[in-house]
Amino acid sequence: MSERPVFPKDFLWGASTSAYQIEGGAEADGRAPSIWDSFCKLKGRVDNGESGDVACDHYHRMPEDVELMAALGLRAYRFSVSWPRVLPRGRGAPNEKGLDFYDRLIDRLLEKNIEPWLCLYHWDLPQALQDMGGWTVRDGAGWFADYAALCARRYGDRVKRWATFNEFSVFTLFGWAFGWGAPSIADRASHLKAIHHVNLAHGAGVDTLRALVPGASIGAVHSVQPMRPETDRPEDVEAAALFDEHWNRAFPDAQLLAHYPRRIAEAIEPYVQPGDMARIARPLDWFGLNHYAPVYGRRDDSLIWGFGFGSPPAGMKRTAIDWPYDPGCFRDTLIDLTRRYRLPIYVTENGYGTKAAEAPDAEGRVADPERLAYLQAYIAAMAEAKARGADVRGYFVWSLLDNFEWGGGYGTRFGIVHVDFKTQARTPKDSARWYADLIRGG
Ligand code: FCB
Repeated sequence: MSERPVFPKDFLWGASTSAYQIEGGAEADGRAPSIWDSFCKLKGRVDNGESGDVACDHYHRMPEDVELMAALGLRAYRFSVSWPRVLPRGRGAPNEKGLDFYDRLIDRLLEKNIEPWLCLYHWDLPQALQDMGGWTVRDGAGWFADYAALCARRYGDRVKRWATFNEFSVFTLFGWAFGWGAPSIADRASHLKAIHHVNLAHGAGVDTLRALVPGASIGAVHSVQPMRPETDRPEDVEAAALFDEHWNRAFPDAQLLAHYPRRIAEAIEPYVQPGDMARIARPLDWFGLNHYAPVYGRRDDSLIWGFGFGSPPAGMKRTAIDWPYDPGCFRDTLIDLTRRYRLPIYVTENGYGTKAAEAPDAEGRVADPERLAYLQAYIAAMAEAKARGADVRGYFVWSLLDNFEWGGGYGTRFGIVHVDFKTQARTPKDSARWYADLIRGG
């Protein structure tokens, strides 16, 4: 194969998943609903009315899935803990059977020499906490710290890599500003409060992990998708600038530079108490980058902040789900982030989605040439960034398995392993074989 960039021996190759997207077992062993369980019940919000009730049934098939990871030669695996599985009410009494599931997962990973990367929050806030105001109340930071303490005490003897949250900006924007994701709120004050309280929760979580996990390596996972205005009309340029602050800056700037970006700072001030920025900006060990594509922003008065999604320029190469295809943007993002935040970067998500069925052929082979080409190009871009000074230490493909792709349901496939959702059969796609070869030779 043509593109086979060389990475250092200790470069960490892995795959990422998240609890609600793969586990299923929605009511198994005492798990209670999260805001995503509730959201999926709303009419017309998820394609085909689907939900994560069963998903990849990973809750029951975990040993087989770890075998699969081992067969691919993965060195690391990023998963998330389902908060309502381990604390059904969000706080208070833990659910022993739920906690036990992650014990078993972690032990199996370690047996196979796969490093567990545990993310505490991948969007599935317990519904019980949402009923008490969720992220719009300041108590949220304390609830999160208590949940972090439970996980730290339980898993901290074996898990050293911890992430507080996944994609702060995406879940707050989609859930509290656009209303397109759980908990389906579109309100400026709620959104601003959610931003600030999630930042406070992150800071409190970092302190908790630092105190309870000896030798912890702690980071946070950010979605950074450079924002470009759809046109050079002043209203699009200004809207894209505000969108950029929300998407790309509100969380990493607060956490790593101890301030909010200019336009947000003013709006969020009523919710900020003395000492808060120091509570948020706690020292971290690495920067988790989820990157897919640049975003084109434009003025859109139908949405609460007056910004929305524009279209990429006509003729721009796109993926099968219409996301811009721009490996150069990935390279530049890695270089820029190294300069801006001065932390080692782990790419905690990158991958290729399609609505094609990608079913196994008669020989049991799943050909996914577009995904394979995408991974080749993006990994080559990462090598180039590294050569130009980007401090990138690892890469986790999104995703190990086809899974529940939020509002896109099961129709959008990101896995390097195909899942037949009728039989739950797993079949590595060509891209998985290529990735396994890369790891072996890397
Ligand atoms: C990211 C999410 C992840 C997955 C990918 C495609 O925004 O973190 O759960 O849905 O996009």
